[in-house]
Amino acid sequence: MTDTPVQTFAHPDAAQGAGPGARPGPQPGSPAGAGEARPLKLFIKSFGCQMNAYDAARMADVLAPEGYAETATLEEADLVVLNTCHIRERAAEKIYSELGKIREMKEAAGRPVTLAVAGCVAQAEGAEIIRRQRAVDLVVGPQSYHRLPDLVRRARAGGGVVDTDFPLESKFDHLAAPSRARTQARGVSAFVTVQEGCDKFCSFCVVPYTRGAETSRPPEAVLAEVVTLVDAGVREVTLLGQNVNAYHGVDAAGAGWTLARLAQRLAVIPGLARIRYTTSHPNDMEPALVAAHRDLGALMPFLHLPVQSGSDRILHAMNRRHDAAAYLALVGEIRAARPDIALSSDFIVGFPGETERDFEDTLALVRRVGFASTFSFKYSPRPGTPGADLPGQVPEPVMRERLHRLQALLEEQRQAFNRACVGRTLDVLFDKPGRHPGQVGGRTPYLQAVHVEGAPDLVGTVRPVEILTVGPNSLSGRLADAGDRAGALFDSGAHAGTSFASGAPAGLSPSPVAERLAS
Ligand code: 5AD
Ligand code: SF4
Repeated sequence: MTDTPVQTFAHPDAAQGAGPGARPGPQPGSPAGAGEARPLKLFIKSFGCQMNAYDAARMADVLAPEGYAETATLEEADLVVLNTCHIRERAAEKIYSELGKIREMKEAAGRPVTLAVAGCVAQAEGAEIIRRQRAVDLVVGPQSYHRLPDLVRRARAGGGVVDTDFPLESKFDHLAAPSRARTQARGVSAFVTVQEGCDKFCSFCVVPYTRGAETSRPPEAVLAEVVTLVDAGVREVTLLGQNVNAYHGVDAAGAGWTLARLAQRLAVIPGLARIRYTTSHPNDMEPALVAAHRDLGALMPFLHLPVQSGSDRILHAMNRRHDAAAYLALVGEIRAARPDIALSSDFIVGFPGETERDFEDTLALVRRVGFASTFSFKYSPRPGTPGADLPGQVPEPVMRERLHRLQALLEEQRQAFNRACVGRTLDVLFDKPGRHPGQVGGRTPYLQAVHVEGAPDLVGTVRPVEILTVGPNSLSGRLADAGDRAGALFDSGAHAGTSFASGAPAGLSPSPVAERLAS
């Protein structure tokens, strides 16, 4: 591990040498677990996007050799990590209220508990977090997670530690690969970060500041990670990046790889049934990637392609670098390549200067596209972004009313999309036991949650399911090949070394595109 400039603060509590701030844990340089009577427990809570969820898993992996075992119970923890999100104001404020609660837990614990803040709030606010909440021992930005063992040791030894560097070395080269057992415990669907950061500088967005410039992992590293995951039983990978379709990995021979090329290569990995990627910018949707949706059976017909607004004026002010017509034309090309594709998007209402007319342009675009699932937000001025200083900030009640109207339309479209699936037979990747005994849950190619009556050993298989009914948040159906196990596309038993039979814990599969990356 490279030694790096890390800011160390005189922590308010450390000077006392006693009380909750005293850290009689392992000495710097020794494994955190050495000499402790009980194994150390790690509690990580992740907020925001899927990349944060992926990062949380990698943080747990890098701390496991230090003796930290994950716990889902905050009160048991010796190390608490809040992996934060800064994308909207409420996301950041939520963190401070969480920190207040954890401070109380620390004080009641009767043993040293180390509190770390990671993620984009850590990156954006740095030492200010420790000033605002004295219980915090460590602030670590997203590019420094590979340094966590050392940082945690220093934090436990006393003093607030802050590392918000953008180091020259890539954290990916230094992060431990998860063990086979840890991968299996996480379920059949996995995230793989292939790209990080963003150079687009949309005027509302903090990502270029918190995650830095666009970087892509080398294709060999991505392929090796995916092969390891598949060997441990993973059936679906979601390639992650804030601007994932800008992926431009360079291989050892110096050749550039696009996301389309990466997907083509991944699609021939035996045992990998499904590939997804998120989040994409319309301008980086190159023709080869559109064609990949036609040509690659493993590339799922679901695309999250945020448009944010349907008004050319607002798109320009947002620095999105395309207009509504270009988005609609792109949607036409994508649908020509893959007619059944389910489209998803993000929307922001109330960007500064948005008039009723602009907002109606957004509604008109939504009507023309027809989205299967979406996310929509009121504009939240982020300090340091150009949007925050623009004139014409839209009053809260106007934003609320517009959001309400937009969401009503989007919800109608979502339900219509789901209803249109009734009577169809869709391949479902089963990823967890269902909510009720005797049920299993999975996802359609369009990322809809489905449950059927079936045995737990369906988990890890892709099976045809006839969709029977639509609920508010999921579909239900029945196996269309019941009794015909030969029909299973990827039977868990058929893949050497795979045993997800009943072991995949509920809730560990990726959430729907519920909390996503920006783009
Ligand atoms: N205000 C409101 N929504 C925002 N998003 C990003 N920044 C802001 C902001 N300042 C939304 C965008 C993005 C999604 C992840 O979050 O729609 O695509
Ligand atoms: Fe980049 Fe997406 Fe943020 Fe725009 S919204 S700056 S494309 S991460």
